[in-house]
Amino acid sequence: MSENRVIGSEHIEDARQRGRLIFEILPGDIVTSLARETAHRLGIELITGPIEKPTLARTDGKTSMGRSLYRRSPKWIAPDKGISSRAKRFSKISIVGAGGVGANISHLAANLDLSNEIAIVDIVPGLAAATALDLNHASGITRSSTKIVGSETLDLISGSDVVIVTAGRARSPGMTRSDLININKRVIQSTAEVIKNQSPSAIVIVITNPLDEMTMEMLTATGFPRERVLGMAGTLDSSRFRRSLAMAAGVKTADVEAITLGSHGDEMAPIISHSKIKGRSLERFLSTEEIEACSKDAISGGGQVVALKKMGSATIAPAHASIEILNHIRGAKNGSIPVSVMLEGEFGLNNVVLGVPAFLGLKGLISVEEIKLSPSELKALQNAAKAIQERLGLK
Ligand code: APR
Repeated sequence: MSENRVIGSEHIEDARQRGRLIFEILPGDIVTSLARETAHRLGIELITGPIEKPTLARTDGKTSMGRSLYRRSPKWIAPDKGISSRAKRFSKISIVGAGGVGANISHLAANLDLSNEIAIVDIVPGLAAATALDLNHASGITRSSTKIVGSETLDLISGSDVVIVTAGRARSPGMTRSDLININKRVIQSTAEVIKNQSPSAIVIVITNPLDEMTMEMLTATGFPRERVLGMAGTLDSSRFRRSLAMAAGVKTADVEAITLGSHGDEMAPIISHSKIKGRSLERFLSTEEIEACSKDAISGGGQVVALKKMGSATIAPAHASIEILNHIRGAKNGSIPVSVMLEGEFGLNNVVLGVPAFLGLKGLISVEEIKLSPSELKALQNAAKAIQERLGLK
């Protein structure tokens, strides 16, 4: 047992000199009235402890050594990922499907005021109009100047710069993304028909699952060039992976760069060779087992939400990931971003829509970034391509 301390004014002055703004008082400590006066005078808060300390992830000796050596190196400053002031404002964004994902995208997009108009469509009578009205009501507070309209008729999407498709059935517990293929294929086909006629130069972002398969279906059904049909998955999966790595390493998510490629499902490929914590390789912070656990956590992330919700799947993180893609399209963010696109020889793959790093711009895909992958990562990408093609009956 440690002895009770008597905290005098000299302790408080010492803490202040060391730049502290709080002083932890442990059970049994005696604090003199002069110490309290000094704390008040110097602006130091006396906090009743013990203050809960984060528990370190259990790890092997090599990793612990790496971490402690790292702490002696110069301070890491996370790169600024802010919005560029040169970003373009869209004329019109349309969102097909006003369910959980569609409503959250509309909400974020309206708040960011990144488009003159947002059109929301849903087959459920009144749902899209209600969402639009609800968002418009908020504009008295948010001061967003975006005009938001909603309807059951797909004609509302006419003249869009971007059409985001979330329409379809969401996963129920125990249901895989593949189970949804036949149900959601019909929704994609009917939506594609209207997009082709009403917004022939739009960029289409598909969110409906199974993602890679539905993006491929959208590409075929619209007949649009691959540059204008993108699938939103890798952006979301990468976010889940980053968060998982940050938790395991006990750092901020802003300190982690990490991507997942491949399919939006079991054949997802977390790319360890291009993932970094504070600019350094993952192995400097985490053991092989910990990295493996983070990969599994990212792969099962969507399923974890489904299991907890019982009805429906994730809505908030997918909406943020969609906004991230919009920000890359309008030039608000730079660099490549993982999206699902039709491959034309990149990574040695053809005739398959797959999550890969891509540069985006106002006309959609600029180019796929063919990053150097390790042999096992390339193999994972090839396996994902094969599985998607098999599910679509192409192999
Ligand atoms: N036209 C317009 N809206 C449609 C159509 C259609 N043909 N078919 C279905 N919808 C609407 C539904 O009425 C529903 O409101 O699509 C909406 C889907 O919303 P949710 O069921 O809440 O699903 P959500 O959680 O938003 O997920 C949407 O994204 O992540 C994926 O797997 C997920 O495929 C699902 C999609």
